[in-house]
Amino acid sequence: MWHWFKRKTENTYIPPLLTDIHSHLLPGLDDGVRTTTESIELIKCFQDLGYTRLITSPHVHELYRNTAKSITQQHQKLTDALVQAGITLEVIATAEYNLDDWFISQFNTNETLLPFGGNYLLIETNFFAEPLILNEIIFKIKSRKYNPVLAHPERYLYLQKNMARIEDLQQRGILFQLNSVSLAGAYGPAAERTARELIDRGMVHILGSDCHNKAQFDLLIKARKTRYYEKALALPLLNYSI
Ligand SMILES: [Fe+2]
Repeated sequence: MWHWFKRKTENTYIPPLLTDIHSHLLPGLDDGVRTTTESIELIKCFQDLGYTRLITSPHVHELYRNTAKSITQQHQKLTDALVQAGITLEVIATAEYNLDDWFISQFNTNETLLPFGGNYLLIETNFFAEPLILNEIIFKIKSRKYNPVLAHPERYLYLQKNMARIEDLQQRGILFQLNSVSLAGAYGPAAERTARELIDRGMVHILGSDCHNKAQFDLLIKARKTRYYEKALALPLLNYSI
């Protein structure tokens, strides 16, 4: 893998991103795609763009009380439909855990969780205020041998102007998953600026689409044409090795 980046500095080869990590493509589980038909159409768009694997991540949230069981069941149904539709792209199911009371109750009662890539756990928080217990939850997640991955750090208002806290979170062992569409202005200028800064500082470990619908997929196409997207691809992303 390091070989690629060395070569990039010599202005040669950047590997294509074949694996997307973070999306909402299992029908009917959250605010992502609603029907199997919509799901298949969107997954076909990813395939046409060259992706070979999607690690999709329904919300686990007070509003969407999904469990490992409900997600796995829906994943199996979609997998069957994809086979019928002749789509060869691989879809893997994980989850995006909002660090709210629903997650805490699942975590504290040892409910089965759905990590990806072995032991990576995709987490998010509310967008406005940092949860008071964030450090404590990170510690507990790591104590259970999961690697916490914070989804879209560039989107949180409490991080956008606090690079010191961003660095502190990384020192506590949190990995960062950037939403590619942030580079196309999907969440406004502050998120775009923060996304660029994270890339400049080499603080991005995973790129994801966070795709919920066709409109967001179209923004992904736009983001992939930006200079910063190319710069992000030259980082040692986990997308290449998971
Ligand atoms: Fe998401």
